[in-house]
Amino acid sequence: MTLVVTGGAGYVGSVCAQHLLDAGHDVVVVDDLSTGHEDAVPSGARLVVGDVAEVADEVLGAGGVDGVIHCAARSLVGESAEKPAKYWHGNVVTTIRLLDALRRHEVPRLVFSSTAATYGEPETSPITEDAPTRPTNTYGATKLAVDHAIGTYAAASGRAFGAVSLRYFNVAGAHAAPTLGERHTVETHLIPLVLQVALGQRDEIAIFGDDWPTADGTCVRDYIHVDDLAEAHLLALDLLARGEAPEGGHLVCNLGNGTGFSVLEVIEACRRVTGHPIPARVAPRRTGDPGVLVASSARARDELGWKPAHTDLDRIVADAWDFARSRAAG
Ligand code: UFG
Repeated sequence: MTLVVTGGAGYVGSVCAQHLLDAGHDVVVVDDLSTGHEDAVPSGARLVVGDVAEVADEVLGAGGVDGVIHCAARSLVGESAEKPAKYWHGNVVTTIRLLDALRRHEVPRLVFSSTAATYGEPETSPITEDAPTRPTNTYGATKLAVDHAIGTYAAASGRAFGAVSLRYFNVAGAHAAPTLGERHTVETHLIPLVLQVALGQRDEIAIFGDDWPTADGTCVRDYIHVDDLAEAHLLALDLLARGEAPEGGHLVCNLGNGTGFSVLEVIEACRRVTGHPIPARVAPRRTGDPGVLVASSARARDELGWKPAHTDLDRIVADAWDFARSRAAG
């Protein structure tokens, strides 16, 4: 198939593009390089530099595009509170314009990067897709709005268009060869920050609260290896290509390992993998953080046939560590 990956110069998008190339597909990456990196675009993919909404007609109008994986997004939870317009325009308006272009050019399938942040503070754990969606931040609200929009476009398109929204939990780890991983200019994620301590790039890691209602008092998250995440996108495309999208043409699937690890457990794993003592100090809770976020991935397993291969936390951290060290070594 010929597939377009928006955001393919970013962390998840570049790994998805690599998996698609490895599976023998032709890949076009669309990225404005505002947060992505040109050298992260896998060799073998064609790069079109530009805003997704601005270049969609050019890329899709050329014809022959079998599907789009839409990863391009604004994705900093904290920033979304300070700059809501950036998120409503960048995530919602852009995606509506992309959906219009998909319809204009009769592109039959879309896989969308959604997020666990659509659920907000969960009432039950693990979280299933029919759990209430009450996002606690603007980022999650924009992704939820897009999920709704995709559902209505799919329902109105009959069998001509199908879509899968994948709700990512905490994506981590790195793709080994070529080495592709997390390189955010503004880093907010736990594992890369902890590894920066091991690399001597920061003195200590702040633990955001130790008074949560969890076994050790620190927040629990569901860490999923980026290679497992990428594989789910390929399976979603396969499902759509077989014409097996559910009634209404839109499937929503959580993607996580189904196992939660606390912040302290993550820091311990990083100590084991790196051999560095990694000083840590307890800091106040971070605004908008839920205490526990763990996915039920039963639907992804049943509908997509997806089974994560790299569920071991030390393995996930070790891959992130290899990537961080290779970057630090230049
Ligand atoms: N944490 C710390 N110290 C830090 C950074 C993070 O203790 O310096 C904690 C957080 O409080 C949280 C856990 O580590 O409990 C993981 O935090 P991340 O920032 O790595 O990830 P989040 O769970 O906040 O966010 C992830 C994605 C978001 C998505 C969200 C879904 O990065 O895009 O899951 O809820 F919205």
